[in-house]
Amino acid sequence: MPTSSAEAAAPALRVRGLRAGYGDAPVVSGVDLDLACGQVAAVVGPNGAGKSTLVKALLGIVGFVEGEVVIDGRVTTGMPLERLARLGVGYVPQVEDVFESLRVRENLDMGGYLLPRRERARRVERVLETFPALRPRLDRYVETLSGGERKMTALARVLMLEPRLLLLDEPTASLSLSVSRVVLDQVRRLADLGKAVLLVEQRAAAALAVADWAYVMVRGGIAMSAPARRVLDDPAMREVFLGARASAGG
Ligand SMILES: Nc1ncnc2c1ncn2[C@@H]1O[C@H](COP(=O)(O)OP(=O)(O)OP(=O)(O)O)[C@@H](O)[C@H]1O
Ligand SMILES: [Mg+2]
Repeated sequence: MPTSSAEAAAPALRVRGLRAGYGDAPVVSGVDLDLACGQVAAVVGPNGAGKSTLVKALLGIVGFVEGEVVIDGRVTTGMPLERLARLGVGYVPQVEDVFESLRVRENLDMGGYLLPRRERARRVERVLETFPALRPRLDRYVETLSGGERKMTALARVLMLEPRLLLLDEPTASLSLSVSRVVLDQVRRLADLGKAVLLVEQRAAAALAVADWAYVMVRGGIAMSAPARRVLDDPAMREVFLGARASAGG
């Protein structure tokens, strides 16, 4: 089998029986997930459902994690973040996703801190092909950018290490609907280029529109796991799991 199709078929992320939280009581429990390269899996659900905790648990940055997390065939439970980054895992957190007091270029350099300088410069050129709007902003301080440019900087910073698995926690939060669409279209494109993307979003309808699979998270558990299209088209699902936000927020 040629390498490319073998890679395309490789499960980038496999989670079984995940249980995680901060104190004694788990915030998420009984979570199973599967994500293949070239796919976007959306995790949608209301405020406080445990979506961010789930993503942090995959990275081992919560109080405790039990169960199995397998990334590219390796059990990664308990691995330090830097090791995960070297294994091709990129994480854009919900908050504090960029260094605001630094320039765009400096953010990109920090994203490529594991790379030799010449390779870093090459990667900057490559992420600018994905986000050409950032090129004229390279010397601007991030705190002076628009919300959309700022989020693109956060994504571009993480793309510097060319991750195979991207964990994105609400990349469209606080962006206008039209800018959200631009960001989500880029997310889809990254998957089409072969990356596996776990996309956490409260903007459920917009996220499901670019996703292959949907995990609906309610009170720390996966209430529904189905093709994104099916959740999007099911009026009962929209009403029960996505709420008014789905129709109002696009
Ligand atoms: N650092 C923390 N310490 C203790 N409890 C926390 C911590 N962070 C989150 N929680 C609790 O865990 C639960 C789930 O929070 P989480 O942030 O994972 O939800 P979410 O689905 O990401 O919500 P949102 O859509 O608002 O981002 C909430 O009850 C929250 O109060
Ligand atoms: Mg969250």
